[in-house]
Amino acid sequence: MAVKKAIAAKPDALLCLGSGDTPLGVFDILVKWHESGEIDFSKVHFVGLDEWLGMDEQDEGSCFYTMYQKLFIPLGLPATQIHCFDAKSTDADGECAKIDKLIAANAGLDFILLGIGSNGHLAMNEPGTLADALCHVSQLAESTILTGQKYFNKSTPLDKGITLGLKHIIEAKQIILMANGPQKAEIIKKTLDLESTSTIPSTFLKRAQNVSIMVDKAAAALLA
Ligand code: PGA
Repeated sequence: MAVKKAIAAKPDALLCLGSGDTPLGVFDILVKWHESGEIDFSKVHFVGLDEWLGMDEQDEGSCFYTMYQKLFIPLGLPATQIHCFDAKSTDADGECAKIDKLIAANAGLDFILLGIGSNGHLAMNEPGTLADALCHVSQLAESTILTGQKYFNKSTPLDKGITLGLKHIIEAKQIILMANGPQKAEIIKKTLDLESTSTIPSTFLKRAQNVSIMVDKAAAALLA
């Protein structure tokens, strides 16, 4: 698996693994490999991809809740190896600057695993975001607000997010985008077929150096 290779090549790699439903199976495998000693996470650093503004890892259904429950806690990672936005902070700009600085100090992310929104968002870089965006607070698209309800056990008002920028994503040394299910088929086709455009942020992946797209049969259904 690519994550394993990235860590073998650079034991203190700076990784970013997206939350959402898509990568959950990957987290299970990583935890198994940690338990069996196949991967040594003792020097790896993780950056949080994105979070709903106003939530943190204590809020069930939030992005970082999932990351902590499914990955960081099972891996036994100390806080010093986890770098997440504090999306409850009153200084969102300061939180963005903190993560921008961390990524710059590493000369970019070594590896990023992403899902994709049905509108082509990557992390919470919604349609309209420019390719050179750094970390920022984003206004969530209507479809993101609606789809986002699936993570919560009660109706939850969502409005803004705090997110890594498209620039961090595009400049990552290795990118894997995963998509599962028929609801992703149309956006996968558009991502591959269309020229880069800010109306579909995922099309900016064409500018990346090292990107792989992994889809299940349903998400690949519209590809020739
Ligand atoms: P999902 O979310 O993995 O839950 O489909 C992906 C995304 O919206 O980026």
